Amino acid sequence: MTEKDSCANIAAMATNTDSDSARRLREQYKDGSNLSARIRLHQRFSTNRYGLMRWMFDHFRIPENASVLELGCGTGILWRSPVPVPPRWRVILTDMSGGMIRETRANLARLGHSFTYSQADAQALPFRAASFDAVIANHMLYHVPDIPRALGEVRRVLKPSGFCYAATMGLAHMREIDDLAARFFSIPRMTDSVARFGLESGEVYMRRAFGEVKLERYPDSLVVTEAAPLMDYICSMRVRSRVSDEQVAGLRRHLENEIAAHGEIRISKDTGMFIAQR
Ligand SMILES: C[S@@+](CC[C@H](N)C(=O)[O-])C[C@H]1O[C@@H](n2cnc3c(N)ncnc32)[C@H](O)[C@@H]1O
Repeated sequence: MTEKDSCANIAAMATNTDSDSARRLREQYKDGSNLSARIRLHQRFSTNRYGLMRWMFDHFRIPENASVLELGCGTGILWRSPVPVPPRWRVILTDMSGGMIRETRANLARLGHSFTYSQADAQALPFRAASFDAVIANHMLYHVPDIPRALGEVRRVLKPSGFCYAATMGLAHMREIDDLAARFFSIPRMTDSVARFGLESGEVYMRRAFGEVKLERYPDSLVVTEAAPLMDYICSMRVRSRVSDEQVAGLRRHLENEIAAHGEIRISKDTGMFIAQR
């Protein structure tokens, strides 16, 4: 997909009404293309080569024979890490987007583990109370309109002493890119999501829903040596109708010039995971 096509896929960010933000969210995640552009940048240029997904598996305290639920599974990246899925885990992957579920099913088909898939909104989970040993909600709670309601649902479906794992990012995450995009595109910063449920703001919600909560941070940064994947990343989040071709070309030129002059662009990352026990 070209940079222009990718940008053209994004819906207009016109007003702040609820229905508008719901429409933007549906458009953003109608399939895995936008999310995959962002994942590709992190996979290629992250300085911490251990890998966020492997690090998450290190932190999971999930029995060998367990029922595991993932909310907002996206493209199923967690299960495509180098860590094999424990064979006796019964994993149900859910997402509000049918397009994401279709893509994840295709992505995971060759893994040889039998996953179950269900299109579901985290605010109204179609599962019985106390049916899961663990619920994973990575990088998705900031999109949920009613976060306390979603965490109430997580608590309801968890078995007593079950764990909730919720990865998110901090306010410093990708701030150089946010600065650049705001400067070149003259649009508001994209920190709204992090402000809703981030490493700084998420703990209050988690503590209201669970007895024990801790936050683990994953140290990382990006050193990017090519302009195109960075443009794909920015365009995966930006709003085409408010950004002209000239603005996109201007930013691309700037990135190319920076890389020509310095050989790389350094970008901060701030990610981590809340671990909570019911
Ligand atoms: C940033 S992506 C994260 C995907 C994946 N967890 C990851 O870490 O790569 C957010 C995902 O949450 C989903 N999502 C957003 N709101 C949701 C909701 N209310 N219920 C369930 N899924 C939701 C989106 O469709 C999207 O796939």
